[in-house]
Amino acid sequence: MPLTRLKISNLRNLGAVTLHPSSSLNFIFGANGSGKTSLLEAIFFLGTGRSFRSHKVKPLINHNADSLILFAKLLSQDFEHSIGLERQGSSGAKTKIDGKAVYSASSLASLLPTLIIDAHSFDLIEGAPKERRSYLDWLVFHVKHSFHDCWKGYSKALKHRNSLLRRGRIEGFELRPWEQEMCSKAEQLALMRQECFDKLKLNLNEVISDFVPLEGISIDFYKGWDKEKTFQEQLEEGKERDAKLGYTWYGAQKADIKIKIEGHPAEQALSRGQQKLLVCALKISIGKTYSELTGKPCIYLVDDLPAELDGDNQKRLANWLSLIGAQVFVTAVEKQALLNAWPEAEKEQAAMFHVKHGLVEHTNQTL
Ligand SMILES: Nc1ncnc2c1ncn2[C@@H]1O[C@H](COP(=O)(O)OP(=O)(O)O)[C@@H](O)[C@H]1O
Ligand SMILES: [Mg+2]
Repeated sequence: MPLTRLKISNLRNLGAVTLHPSSSLNFIFGANGSGKTSLLEAIFFLGTGRSFRSHKVKPLINHNADSLILFAKLLSQDFEHSIGLERQGSSGAKTKIDGKAVYSASSLASLLPTLIIDAHSFDLIEGAPKERRSYLDWLVFHVKHSFHDCWKGYSKALKHRNSLLRRGRIEGFELRPWEQEMCSKAEQLALMRQECFDKLKLNLNEVISDFVPLEGISIDFYKGWDKEKTFQEQLEEGKERDAKLGYTWYGAQKADIKIKIEGHPAEQALSRGQQKLLVCALKISIGKTYSELTGKPCIYLVDDLPAELDGDNQKRLANWLSLIGAQVFVTAVEKQALLNAWPEAEKEQAAMFHVKHGLVEHTNQTL
C-alpha cells in the first residue's frame, strides 16, 4: 500500500505539488511556515477524508482558490490503485477510487491505513476516553471487516434509545427493539475489540519496555460496562438512572484503554516526557500489530520529530519504524536532524524533499 505518487492542488499554501515518494522513508524539511505539515495533512486527508488540524474543510482550501484537489497512486498487493478527491468548502465533496465515486471515508481508510505522530498525539494519555477508543478502533476497523457496520448499527440503536429516554418514552415496547439491537451489537463490538487488544498488548509490552521502562504498568481494555455482566443485564439494571439522565450511561460508546502505573492513572503518575515516550510506544505497537495481522505495512506521518523527542528517542522511534517496514513521511526544520535519527542502511532507500514557500523540491541528498 505505499503511496507511489501524490499530487496536491490548493491545499493551504501548497498550490501545485507533485511528489514521487519512496515506498520506505521520506524526509521532508523546510523553514517554519513553508508547508511541511500541510503536506502530511494532504496524505492524511487522502486516507481519512478529513484533516487532523481542522474539522472544517474551508480553512484547508488555498485562500486564492475555490477548491482543493488531491490525487494519489498507491500499490496494494502489486495492484495499482488511484484516489482522487475534490473539496469545495462544506458542500461539493467528490471522492473517487479507481475512477469510481465513493461516498464513505471507510473506503479510503481501508486503502490507505494511516497513523500520525504529532504534538496532538500526546493527548492520547491525558485526553478523554474517545482518544484511546479511536486509537484501538483504528486497528479493529482494519482487521475485523464487520466492525464498521456493527458500530454503525450500534450507534443508530443507541441514538434511538437516547432520544426515547429524553422524551420520557420508557415503555418496553418502544425501547425493546433498540435495546435488543444494542445488546447484540455491543457484545460483538466488545469481542472484536478485546481480540485486537489482546494481540496489541503483546507488542505493547515489548515496545513500551524499550521506550520507557516503567515499573508496575498495567494496560487493560474496558469494554464500556461491568466485565462481570452481560450488556443486557447492565442495561436492565441501569434503566432508571438512564431514564433520569436522558441518555445511556454504559455501553460500547464508553470503551477505553485504562493505563495505570502502580494502580494510579498514567496521566497523573507520569511526567510529560514519559507520556510522550509512552505515546510513541502505543503508536508503534498498533502499526506493528496491524502489519502482523494483515501482512501489509501502514503509513506513518511524523510531524516535526525533533520538536517532540530528544536525539536518542528520535533514533529509537526511527529504528522501530524501520523494523515495521512502514512507509514513513517525517518532517523537521533542519535536514540534518532527520539524517541523524535514521540508521545508515535505511537512508539509502530514502527520498528527501525540501519544502520552500509551498513548493516542494526532490533533492536526493540523503547521505
Ligand atoms: N487556506 C490557506 N491558504 C493559503 N495559505 C495557508 C492556508 N492555511 C494556512 N496557510 C499557510 O500555509 C503555510 C504552511 O503552513 P504549515 O504547513 O503549517 O507549515 P510548516 O508545517 O512547514 O511550518 C503557513 O504559512 C500558513 O499561514
Ligand atoms: Mg508544521
